[in-house]
Amino acid sequence: MKRTVVFGFALLMAAAVFLGCGGKDAGGQAEDSKGLIGVVMPTRSEERWNKDGNAVKEGLEKLGYTVDLQFSDDDIPTQLNQIDNMITNGVKALVIASIDGSSLGTQLENARAAGIPVISYDRLLMQSPNVDYYVSFDNYKVGRQMGQILVNGLNLDNPAKRPINLELFAGSPDDNNSVGFYQGAIDVLQPYMDSGVVAVPSGQIDRTVIGTLRWDAAEAQKRMENLLSRYYSGNVVLDGILSPYDPISLSCLEACKAVGYGSTPGKPLPVAGGQDCIVASVKSIVQGEQYATVLKDTRSLGAATVELVDKIMKGETISGLDTTSYPNGASVNGSPYIVPSLLLDSVIVTQDNVQKDVIDTGYHSREELGL
Ligand code: GAL
Repeated sequence: MKRTVVFGFALLMAAAVFLGCGGKDAGGQAEDSKGLIGVVMPTRSEERWNKDGNAVKEGLEKLGYTVDLQFSDDDIPTQLNQIDNMITNGVKALVIASIDGSSLGTQLENARAAGIPVISYDRLLMQSPNVDYYVSFDNYKVGRQMGQILVNGLNLDNPAKRPINLELFAGSPDDNNSVGFYQGAIDVLQPYMDSGVVAVPSGQIDRTVIGTLRWDAAEAQKRMENLLSRYYSGNVVLDGILSPYDPISLSCLEACKAVGYGSTPGKPLPVAGGQDCIVASVKSIVQGEQYATVLKDTRSLGAATVELVDKIMKGETISGLDTTSYPNGASVNGSPYIVPSLLLDSVIVTQDNVQKDVIDTGYHSREELGL
């Protein structure tokens, strides 16, 4: 009898191990997990979204959550599918950095119906009241920093010549961040355009004309090549580039180099800013090519998101929310819906503070930068 019981118990244990009941449930979570959280990032092909995704995943896992992290290959249907699957798998919260901010209406509605809180990560989810929070940087301020980079780098308050020739690039038209970046930069540059200190020889200033779909650096490079060949002949020299994103800055500088900038007397490389503080741009800044970038520390954004998810899960009150800056185009009871937002600070990086703000803080190591 005793032997039969022991044997039966052993069989039961073997079955449990075989069925995977020992530590995981059907959703692949450890039994002691605080719950499954879905995290969706737009693409793996850009340096920052990898860092963002991993920072959020690691932070949540440290707190005991299980994380399903997906990258959407910059393909909208893929992203919609990933979110549908996460909802079906019973995630407890969704963290979403969208590709096209207005494309997720149905998924967000389904999430709300299932009681799943949604956090819009870095890029604002648009045209839907079913967005609980937005965690990002102050995107208008980031835009002002992009403009300020050109004011400083081209000494616009005391210009060496008149006019200083600029060409302007904006981000993806389907990404609401592009609006803040553009508006902030234009608000800084407009007075210099009005007073004749700055000219834009192509006349292409409107955001809809200077946008770069999906932030595609190759597309921006083509546009730069066209601008240079159409508007910059004789002694019209390009002095500066407004760029909202480091890969765009680098590809525009390549286009300039290809027609002699940086290697011909009287044609220095134009002053170009950027955003994201990617390794290639910091290297370029150290070498004296790209002039500056805006550092938005993905580690802080990740940490703020992790803290927010944890507070939501625990039912704690969230403080420090901005409740005026980010209407997302939806309305609730006839009033514009403003997404409660947590907004972080960004830093301009030039040669002068690479050491202090990039290396000393551990954002990139000297080795990564090849120093
Ligand atoms: C924006 C983001 C930028 C940059 C860009 C391209 O939404 O705010 O920092 O990463 O996308 O990915």
